[in-house]
Amino acid sequence: MFFPRLLALLPLLYFAFTFLDAQLPKHYIFDPAKLQELSQGAIANNPDGNVTNIFSDLVDGLRETYGEKHVNLVRDEDWFFNNAGGAMGSMVILHASLTEYLILFGTPLGTEGHSGLHLAHDYFTILSGKQQRLDAGDHYPRTYLPGDMNHLPRGMTSQYQLNGWALELAQGWIPTMLAFGFLDTLTSTLDFPNLWKTVKLTGENMVGQLLIGKI
Ligand SMILES: *[C@@H]1O[C@H](CO)[C@@H](O)[C@H](O)[C@H]1NC(C)=O
Repeated sequence: MFFPRLLALLPLLYFAFTFLDAQLPKHYIFDPAKLQELSQGAIANNPDGNVTNIFSDLVDGLRETYGEKHVNLVRDEDWFFNNAGGAMGSMVILHASLTEYLILFGTPLGTEGHSGLHLAHDYFTILSGKQQRLDAGDHYPRTYLPGDMNHLPRGMTSQYQLNGWALELAQGWIPTMLAFGFLDTLTSTLDFPNLWKTVKLTGENMVGQLLIGKI
């Protein structure tokens, strides 16, 4: 009689999930509007569009606003590739915890794919170049230019095309997003050193944040 007992657990699991889900926002430290403001400041500081300088001004602003313990310095060796939903870009982790991640992501070569279906909100602020987004049912794309923020609400999906760089914030059940981030390696690229780097840096950041009380 294993099965009926398991069924009896379902309502319990449902209530546990609903309860935990409602606690998530208490643990968020990043404010999407503030991130957009800092991004726009870094863009305005660099009217020549030099991405290297936009990144470094933005990271300085983020560390000043949110504290050096929550936002990593960006070193050249911390960048890695991400293949997900058919799209490919280069990324670096500024912050990763159980409820939030903040990354620089993009490619100046152009890429296109599926956003993924996530248990998290996604806020994508363009730093250079352009992103276009098509939701099912749209006949024309929406276009996002430097300083614009593309918010993909939790549970929504879109097709996107990115030719440039962005600051991306995700807020929600971050560990559930990782499968989407990893699977293209197993089904397509077989770039295991890159996967190992992804897992190692994500794990180190999450554990490091947990140890200082950031869930
Ligand atoms: C951007 O600025 C950095 C540092 O000031 C400089 O080394 C680099 O050559 C610049 N890049 C471009 C593409 O102008």
